[in-house]
Amino acid sequence: MDLTILEKIDSTNKYLKEKKYKKNWEIVMAKEQTAGKGRRGKVWNSNKGGAWFSFCFAEDKYLSKTEYGKIPLIAGLAVIKGLEEIEKLNYKIKWPNDVYVGKRKISGILLEKSGDFFIVGIGINVNNVDFGEFKDIGISLNKITDKIYNIEKLVMLVASKFKKEYYRFLRGEWEEILLEIKEKNYLKNRVVEVMVNSEVIKGEVIGINNSAELCIKKNNEIYEIKSGEIRIV
Ligand code: BTN
Repeated sequence: MDLTILEKIDSTNKYLKEKKYKKNWEIVMAKEQTAGKGRRGKVWNSNKGGAWFSFCFAEDKYLSKTEYGKIPLIAGLAVIKGLEEIEKLNYKIKWPNDVYVGKRKISGILLEKSGDFFIVGIGINVNNVDFGEFKDIGISLNKITDKIYNIEKLVMLVASKFKKEYYRFLRGEWEEILLEIKEKNYLKNRVVEVMVNSEVIKGEVIGINNSAELCIKKNNEIYEIKSGEIRIV
């Protein structure tokens, strides 16, 4: 996997999206992003010290659209596996695409599509300590341990973990991967609220199903959520 390191860019996702000739599994990281993008049009605070990177890969022709939702969860697992190699903490996946330590967010994932390519954008709070408008929910490795980490090393680790997990997935090992994801399910047994077709569903999270949907139990009925902003009640 080739790594390009940029001093400063608006967004590594945007950079790869707009790049004309994309190479499979190329990685772009930036020391700083001036317009880091979060999900749902949010801003991602990306000043110096964090791991801000994106990589891309061509869509496999056998992958159906219904499987796209599995990719951010696979990326979440890869972030955890990479982080665990540099600092052992209790990391959890907050469905569908965040990684938490305790009650705080340490990483966010943004999956985009550009032609036949998937672009996986990952932000991990590493040595940075200022989370801007996310100051109440953000956390970084440095805030927890006071240590300074090698960002390039972490970027390469996470990207290669993703590639490994993704090939496992293409080989048909989704069920095994899902078991690992379920073990790290931050939302399990929590009462949450989520908007579905302008209706608020409030209930207890009972798990993640085989299609990567979040399962919520409300008055003995199970709701299977494809995507959405989850609020813990
Ligand atoms: C989220 O939690 O809403 C997703 C955040 C994704 C941030 C990363 S940082 C690298 C890549 N470039 C971007 O502009 N966004 C992603």
